[in-house]
Amino acid sequence: MTSFDETRYFSPLAPGASALPPKVSLVGAGPGDPDLLTVKALRLLQQAQLVVYDKLVSREVLALVPAQADRIYVGKQSGLHTLRQEEIIALLVRLARSGRSVVRLKGGDPYVFGRGGEEAQALAAAGIAFEVVPGITSAQGMAAATGIPLTHRDHATQVTLVTGHLRDEAGERGLELDWSCLARPHQTLVVYMGVATLPHVCAQLERHGLAADTPAAVVENATLPTQRTVTGTLRTLPTLARAHAIRAPALIVIGGVVALHAELAAQMLR
Ligand SMILES: C[S@@+](CC[C@H](N)C(=O)[O-])C[C@H]1O[C@@H](n2cnc3c(N)ncnc32)[C@H](O)[C@@H]1O
Repeated sequence: MTSFDETRYFSPLAPGASALPPKVSLVGAGPGDPDLLTVKALRLLQQAQLVVYDKLVSREVLALVPAQADRIYVGKQSGLHTLRQEEIIALLVRLARSGRSVVRLKGGDPYVFGRGGEEAQALAAAGIAFEVVPGITSAQGMAAATGIPLTHRDHATQVTLVTGHLRDEAGERGLELDWSCLARPHQTLVVYMGVATLPHVCAQLERHGLAADTPAAVVENATLPTQRTVTGTLRTLPTLARAHAIRAPALIVIGGVVALHAELAAQMLR
C-alpha cells in the first residue's frame, strides 16, 4: 500500500493547485550529499509544493523541501507495495492534469539509469510541459569522493557506464552486456546496480580477457557520511565485497584508475 491521500492531491482545490499551467520538473538529486545539488535543483526544491521522490533521494536533500510541501514517496520500502513504473508515470500525469506543479525528484541524474527518459516520453505523449534538471550522477560523485578519477591519460581513455541489474528474473544469463567490449584494457568500467551480479560480472570480464589483477573497487553510499570503499582486483573483489557485507546503493569500478585511490585518498579533504 502506498500511503497518500488521493483526494488531497487530486482535488481541484488541492493545496498547491495554481492558475499557472502545471509542469513537471524531473530533477536530479545527485548522489546524496546535498552540497552536490545544482543551483537550479536547489531553487526548485526550496519552492516546491509537491515532490514525488525515490528511494535514493537522501534525507539531507529531502530536508531542503519546505515543511508545508506535499511529499509522495514512490520508492521501494520493505513491507509496502512498490509503485510500478507505469503507476508512477500515471500518477505524474494525473497530478499535472489536476493542476499541480510537480517536482519529480530522482537520485543522481534523471537520464542516467533513472528512468527519466521513460517519464519524459510519457509526459510528452500526454501533452504535459516538463523540464529536466541534471544531477551529478553517482559515478561522478563517487569519483570525486574516493579519489578514483574516471579518466586519466595513463590509465583510461574512455569510461563506460553499464547496468548490472537484471531486467527480469532470467538469472545472470539475463545480463546481456557486450563483454568483449567491456573487457578491453585502458578504460574505466562503472557498473550501476551490480552488487548482486558482481561475481558474474567479474567472471565474465576475466573470461573475455581482462587481466585478473586489474584494479577494482566497490563504493557503497558514495558522497554520504556512510560511504565505504573496498578495493581489490577483478579476481578478489567479489569475495571482498561479500566479506564487507556491501549493500546497495553501491557502484563497482574496474580499471587502472582504481589504483590511484591509495595515492589520492589520503590527502583528500572530506
Ligand atoms: C536506479 S540507479 C539510479 C542511478 C542514478 N540516476 C544516478 O545517476 O546515479 C541506482 C543505482 O545507482 C547507484 N547509486 C546511486 N546513488 C549511489 C550512491 N550514493 N553510492 C553508490 N552508488 C549509488 C547504485 O549502483 C544504485 O544501485
